[in-house]
Amino acid sequence: MADSGVYLDNAATTPPFPEAVAAVARAMESVYGNPSSRHRLGLDAANVVERAREVVARSVGAEGSEIVFTGGGSEANNLALKGAAWAYRRAGRRVVVTAVEHSSVLEPARWLEEMGFEVVVVPVGSDGRAGLDDVLAVVTPETLVVSVMHVNNEVGAIQPVAALGRRLGAVRPTSGRRKGLPLLHVDAVQSLGRLDVDVRALGADLLTVSAHKVHGPKGVGALFVRRGVRLVPLVHGGGHEGGRRSGTENVPGIAGFSAALERMMALGPSEVSRRAADLRRRLVDAVREGWPRVVVNGPAPVGSRTGRTGGGEDAVAPHREDAVAPHIVSLSFPGVPGEVMQQHLQARGVYVSTGSACGSHHRGRASHVLEAMGCPPDVAGSAVRVSFSPLNTADEVERAAGAMVEVARSLAQRRAGP
Ligand SMILES: Cc1ncc(COP(=O)(O)O)c(C=O)c1O
Repeated sequence: MADSGVYLDNAATTPPFPEAVAAVARAMESVYGNPSSRHRLGLDAANVVERAREVVARSVGAEGSEIVFTGGGSEANNLALKGAAWAYRRAGRRVVVTAVEHSSVLEPARWLEEMGFEVVVVPVGSDGRAGLDDVLAVVTPETLVVSVMHVNNEVGAIQPVAALGRRLGAVRPTSGRRKGLPLLHVDAVQSLGRLDVDVRALGADLLTVSAHKVHGPKGVGALFVRRGVRLVPLVHGGGHEGGRRSGTENVPGIAGFSAALERMMALGPSEVSRRAADLRRRLVDAVREGWPRVVVNGPAPVGSRTGRTGGGEDAVAPHREDAVAPHIVSLSFPGVPGEVMQQHLQARGVYVSTGSACGSHHRGRASHVLEAMGCPPDVAGSAVRVSFSPLNTADEVERAAGAMVEVARSLAQRRAGP
């Protein structure tokens, strides 16, 4: 890191584990063969890729042959939606997504709409969660793909994916033109390493993961493609990755992904979540203590003191353990624009984001997630997202909470005048 600040923007990206850095360097220095070459250097590189494929597969309960390496989560999401819709286009035309999906799901869906597919966007409640029945209500015999993320990247809301997987499993034809449809795609970029991600338990046919969210390198990810599921590739060429993604494999990136994931999985999702829940509780409690007007957007975790959720006036929180992932928390300081809070925190060495870092290319636009949750404009416009990793400490969180309270107080004082 550039300085010894407090990095709390882990949903945007995570600092690489030293193991990942070492694996990338090792692959670049000594495994530089092309995995498609038939000589020893090529075989060495192919072995690195295949070992990594097994590690990624194991982390999501899949088989190696079901893992397609991609250039990141966005590409995997694009491949899932466009690839599946295109492959099954003769069996229907509907694609279902939720309103809070990442832009790398929403934009391909929009593109598919331009190509003649019918896209249905399912709304979410004020806690950021899509209702199971609301999703099922728009699944018709015309539906090809249903794409629902596991954990939302802005507010941490956990979507009812496993229940959806079970319900879709019960309505899928087992023969004929629509055999196995609709497919369930799950964007698990924010849940890998933090929650149990098991493709069979979730009932996923397609599932996206990304290396840089689990302390690996950027620009590498993977799509789980259940055996038997067809996809039209986005990248045509030499037929790499079982013909589903051509291009010489990013061997260093894949090696780094695998090394990072091994450490993350050794820590274990329940330990990672337990630590994050502790940090989240400390942060929310300390900020509330010093600035009671703070709003926590999204579902409230078990044991939180007041259940005020975004969009609601002191609404009673759902208090469901399975409703929110503790490593992401969205806080609003009404009256203090999110960017202003972010800048002031940065000046105090605390790094957070104003929402989705990946959406910040669309400057000036309110977060589509907070908007979909019905947050009033002053709540949506004053949101900052704090996200934890297993590398964060309680001291860092206390420091961040102190800085937030200090900024909120000093700006309020300035507004009130001398
Ligand atoms: C939920 C979610 N999906 C997909 C992505 C995109 O992943 P990548 O940055 O690897 O393209 C992100 C990144 O922020 C994300 O949070």
